[in-house]
Parts: sequence; C-alpha cells; structure tokens
Amino acid sequence: MTQNILVVGGAGYVGSHVSKALAGQGYLPVVFDDLSAGHEWAVQWGPLEVGRLADRDTLRMAMEKHRPAAVMHFAGLITVGESVADPSKYYRHNVIDTLVLLDVMREAGIKKIVFSSSAAVYGAPETTPIPENHPLCPTNPYGETKLMVERILHDYAVAYDIQSVSLRYFNAAGADPDIEIGEAHDPETHLIPLVLEAALGTREEIKIFGTDYPTHDGSCIRDYVHVSDLADAHVAALKYLANKEASIAGVFNLGNGAGFSVKEVIATAQQVTGYDISVSVADRRAGDPAILVADSTKARAELGWTPRFESLDQQVLHAWNWLKKSP
Ligand code: UFG
Repeated sequence: MTQNILVVGGAGYVGSHVSKALAGQGYLPVVFDDLSAGHEWAVQWGPLEVGRLADRDTLRMAMEKHRPAAVMHFAGLITVGESVADPSKYYRHNVIDTLVLLDVMREAGIKKIVFSSSAAVYGAPETTPIPENHPLCPTNPYGETKLMVERILHDYAVAYDIQSVSLRYFNAAGADPDIEIGEAHDPETHLIPLVLEAALGTREEIKIFGTDYPTHDGSCIRDYVHVSDLADAHVAALKYLANKEASIAGVFNLGNGAGFSVKEVIATAQQVTGYDISVSVADRRAGDPAILVADSTKARAELGWTPRFESLDQQVLHAWNWLKKSP
C-alpha cells in the first residue's frame, strides 16, 4: 500500500525536490505549505494542503485526513542576515512552530520525522572537513534555531519515542535535471542563482563578498551539494527510520567533501553558460566562515547515500537550465 508522507514546506526549493524523489520511490507526498515562500507550481506529485504551521487545527485536520506514515519538515526561514536583524521572527517560526508540529504529531500518533537542518549548527569550523561530532557553536540566530530543533528532537526521542533524522545540509545547489522544478527564492541571496542571473543579464553584476580570506584565491570556499542528491538522502533517511524500532535522533551531514571558492563558482558559470559575467569586489559579509566543507562519511555508510551529481559543472548546468525556463 502506498504510504503517505506529510511534506511540511513541500512547495519550497528542497521540499519540492524531495516530493519528486518520494513519488519516484512509490510514496505519496502530501504537501502542507502556507505558500508564503513556496510556490503552487512546485507541488506536482501529490495533494497540497494550504495552511500555516502555527495553525494547530489546520495541521491536525491534514494529519487526520491523510494519515501520514512520517513527516518531513522543511518549513522555515533561511536567511542568515535577516535572522540577525529580526531574531524574534526566526525563533517563532523555526522553533515555536516546529513545537506545534511535533505536538500535533504526538497527538496523531505519528512517530517519525526527517528534519531539514544546516551546516550553520557548527559555526566557524575548527577542523575541515567537518564531521558530525564537531563542536556545535552557531554564529547567528538562524543556526541557533536549527540546533534548538535538533536538541528538541533528541529530547522527544527519549521522552516520547519520536524517531528523527536531522540532515545538516551544506550548500544546496542545482535543480531537477528534468527541469520540472528548481530554485525560486524572493529575494534570492544564494551565490549560484545570483551568478547565473548576472550571466543571463537580469542582474548587472555579481559582488564577491570578500577576497581577503585565508583561502587559495582569497574568496570563501563552500561545499555545494545537488538538491536532487539532498532529496535522495531524505528518502534514504525515511527508509532508515522505517527499520528502527528503538528511539533515535540521528544527525547526518550532507555535502560532497569538496570545496569551491566563490571565484571558482563564477569561472564555472562563465564556462557552462558561455557568457561573460561582470564581477566586483565587495566587503566581507558578516558571519561568513572562510571554509565550510562536509565530512559526509556517516551518511554514505549508514544511510547508503550515494550522490549522483557531485560535479560543480553539473550543478551549475542544471541551475542554468532551470533559470532559463523558470516561471
Ligand atoms: N556570496 C558572494 N556574493 C553573493 C552571494 C554570496 O560572494 O552575492 C558568497 C558568500 O559570501 C559565501 C558564498 O558565496 O561565501 C555562498 O553564499 P550563499 O549565500 O550562497 O550560501 P551560504 O554559504 O551563506 O549559506 C548556506 C545556506 C544557509 C546556511 C549556510 C550554512 O544557504 O541556509 O549555508 O552555513 F545557513
């Protein structure tokens, strides 16, 4: 029998790719989203229930109607700078609303959840690549909210037998290779889509935030991971939880273990698109660590996760194909 999975925030960038991957593996993704940042066009593989996470009754009704076997949670605010300027908004949406979700799950007897966490839980790295047992020391409220939810999930496993996997993404990149869905943030703050907009000519230039970092070319290094590979990891996490009887709150890094600098990303985009890209140098962006690269050995070994699109060229190409067609 087809299992329903409640995909909270499933109309967004990562959530929509996960919905597609779930459908491809025989699950029915039921998207619960308030469409504040997500898009109705991104919900293509199952029903859409429009509602706010904070609205307990709507959420309860969605769970009663669809009886999901598990929940996947992507709904949350994601802009680091905004979280510094308005922490109240971030703690409310990312932490308090998640508590509502978990409590409604408990009432409905749903015991399994996959949570969208972030490399931001580590803060400035002490070692590279970063393993899961690296100290957790977020440098902004966004990262704090992700860490708080991880800790809540740990306590809920112990006390209420809620089984969870938190997936700490590094830099999500690319788009569905079939170009059915892709990244569409408003405002867009992420490097790859901004660079590609500069290539397309819908943005004048790309600003490099700092060229005086202690890296080989002075610009920041990140570990870009294809959004469809992230999606596969979520399905793997669901299967991992399905086989667990004991209470568990697992955490896994998701990255490729290879870092690319901002300048290398721009050069790749120039080569993939064939367009010149205007570049200027700006001040460092507050709170950016010089290098963030994942050690994802654990996800590969325990979840059986095998990324399909490790090359930056492919990630940039898929993002480019999407940008040219996006609504
Ligand atoms: N960058 C620029 N110019 C831009 C935009 C970004 O030089 O116009 C640089 C940033 O300074 C950074 C790199 O490109 O060095 C990547 O920046 P992104 O904003 O694309 O991504 P981040 O690494 O800041 O953030 C990502 C996720 C966050 C998450 C964080 C984990 O998007 O949600 O990783 O640390 F919190």
